[in-house]
Amino acid sequence: MALPSLRRQQRYVRESELNMTFRELKPNIYPVGAVDWERRLFDSLIPLPDGTSYNSYLIKGSEKIALIDTVDPTKTQVLEENLAKLGIIKIDFVIANHAEQDHSGSLAFVVQKYGAKVVSTPKAKPMLVDLLELSEEQFITVEDTETISLGGKTLQFIHVPWVHWPETMVTYLKEEKILFSCDFFGSHIAASNLYADDEGKVYEAAKRYFAEIMMPFRNVIQKNLEKLKDYQIDIIAPSHGPVHKQPDFIVNAYRDWVFGEPKNIVVLPYVSMHGSTKKMVDYFAAALIERGVEVELFDLTVTDLGKLALSLVDASTVVLATPTVLAGAHPQIIYATFLANALRPKLKYASVIGSYGWGGKAIEQISGLIPNLKVEVIEPVLAKGYPGEADFKALDNLAQTISDKHKELADG
Ligand code: FEO
Repeated sequence: MALPSLRRQQRYVRESELNMTFRELKPNIYPVGAVDWERRLFDSLIPLPDGTSYNSYLIKGSEKIALIDTVDPTKTQVLEENLAKLGIIKIDFVIANHAEQDHSGSLAFVVQKYGAKVVSTPKAKPMLVDLLELSEEQFITVEDTETISLGGKTLQFIHVPWVHWPETMVTYLKEEKILFSCDFFGSHIAASNLYADDEGKVYEAAKRYFAEIMMPFRNVIQKNLEKLKDYQIDIIAPSHGPVHKQPDFIVNAYRDWVFGEPKNIVVLPYVSMHGSTKKMVDYFAAALIERGVEVELFDLTVTDLGKLALSLVDASTVVLATPTVLAGAHPQIIYATFLANALRPKLKYASVIGSYGWGGKAIEQISGLIPNLKVEVIEPVLAKGYPGEADFKALDNLAQTISDKHKELADG
């Protein structure tokens, strides 16, 4: 009967090592957050194939101590253990860059146990009061670019609204030139490595994160990127995923995602029930590839929707391929269309292909679901039953039209 307790003890030791308690980002700056290896869904919606982390950073000045962001409430104990290992019994300020609970969920604990004041934007304060068991007198609100000195370490608060909630800010540590960016520049990766050394892996995870969380706010993110240009930044320390010692890598990626023109790519999400729509999808994809257009196919019955979101970051065109069922488009296509509309990618063109038995309202349904997409809708191709010669010719024409439009886009 002693075995389970031994197992628990070993797990505790491993977790302690992975939570990086004794590592320093710079002298007197410690990562004290938690890695969540097991989490597979965020907001009960977003797939997390690589888990995530809730990064929290302790900064010791010569006079005061600050904690940047906290952790998801499921990991409060890990934060407490990490602070205990550093011998922390009092914290002066807990900086709430963002009110969402994966960062703010342990605020009440930090306030109660360590006597900290919560530092937030004026907009975040009522949100945190509503979401958590906090009272107004436990707050210090800071205006844009206001500073707090910890003694030899100066925190500057930069308001960056709508990244991705209205109340968000980032915190710049002036002396060390570190930007604590919370969700901004983050990625959902659980890793024992503190830094973004594997740039390929981090790029894909950060792009997926951008697509799912940030893309709807592309226009305000453009403004916030411009605002941050005035700061010399040596390190970006987000509150999800690895720390960037080469900040240009992630900043340039963001600039491409928000400012860059859409690329010569068609995203082709599809559902097929009896093979007719799939036949059209295969023919159409080949017709596009022959014309030099990149295609990304997603079978919505099995696809990870995060991958679909990621593909929409760069695409010029989406073509939805659906059979007719229940008198309309397949529900999986309806769901994907709804998400694409909500994510507001920089698509320029859209169309629909698919097969029907005796009628239905698939086109009207899909058209009604995309008011946010500023797209030109290209004539759909619908086959009655299994596709025939005329349908394949229509698919060739659609592929040619898309190829021509992409060339026009590239020529400006
Ligand atoms: Fe990581 Fe918007 O919270």
